[in-house]
Amino acid sequence: MSQLVPEIARLRLLLDAHRKAGKTIGLVPTMGALHAGHRRLMEVARPESDVVVTTIFVNPTQFDRTGDLEQYPKTLDQDLALCREVGSDLVFAPTAAEMYPQPQLAWVDVPELTTHLCGAGRPGHFRGVATVVTKLLLIAEPDRAYFGEKDAQQLAVIRRLVRDLNIPVTVVGVPTVREPDGLAISSRNRHLNAYERLQARALSQALFAARDAILAGERSVKKIHSAVAPFFDGVRLEYCSIVDPQTLTPVEHIESPVLIAGAIWLGTTRLIDNVTVSVGGSAGEAG
Ligand code: PAJ
Repeated sequence: MSQLVPEIARLRLLLDAHRKAGKTIGLVPTMGALHAGHRRLMEVARPESDVVVTTIFVNPTQFDRTGDLEQYPKTLDQDLALCREVGSDLVFAPTAAEMYPQPQLAWVDVPELTTHLCGAGRPGHFRGVATVVTKLLLIAEPDRAYFGEKDAQQLAVIRRLVRDLNIPVTVVGVPTVREPDGLAISSRNRHLNAYERLQARALSQALFAARDAILAGERSVKKIHSAVAPFFDGVRLEYCSIVDPQTLTPVEHIESPVLIAGAIWLGTTRLIDNVTVSVGGSAGEAG
């Protein structure tokens, strides 16, 4: 059974009791519209935690485009069914008034990690993410919190804020879940029409091609960019960048592991994806 908990105070009471009984808590923050990617986070959390708490909150402070917040899919009944199926014990689904009872004046900002990649085109987005994740971590006080590598910059920001603010939680990164053709699963994929869905493959294909080029020995970022450019013909490319996985700053010559991340637009839908590559070793993905 998944228990739906809309109030912060109630969640704290329930979790305090579990903690006193010596139980470990795993937190899976989401914005709902749950899909196979979210499911994987819960599946990873389940055996590692006595109590799994999934949070469903469409956080208004991280939306930077008008209309995007209103358009964000809300499927609470289906979400609860999935949480039940996977065995999430508690589902914390607060209202915006519960999370932000008054205008937020205190913010968590990680500016150095948010100037590049998605941060460049989405002012304020990561400040909203960092702030709500900090609030959720302070509300639930979990032993572990689970985040997808699909949102690599978000994961880097969260790892950093946890370290810088001494929040006693282990952040667990979960590899990206993909469709059979490589497209990273996302709540936004449902906005794509049939043609855009075909075009969407360009992003993962380009990232995989870049990864393969590096694995084959290419070390020049300039040459890799030229090699993958044709994949983006006919789609609106926001960025495709090769960066240091920790600092997220662009690299020119590849000598150590890199994160290759990209964002494209198909109509009004924005898609992001990334892979990490360990040079001289095995390749992995980070999302
Ligand atoms: P949301 O987009 O709902 O994603 C919730 C979590 O699921 C994030 O950690 C995200 O990286 C992960 N996720 C999404 N798609 C995935 C996929 N295909 N494979 C693996 N993991 C995937 O990210 C957010 O919500 C919000 O910013 C949040 C952290 C909840 C703060 O509001």
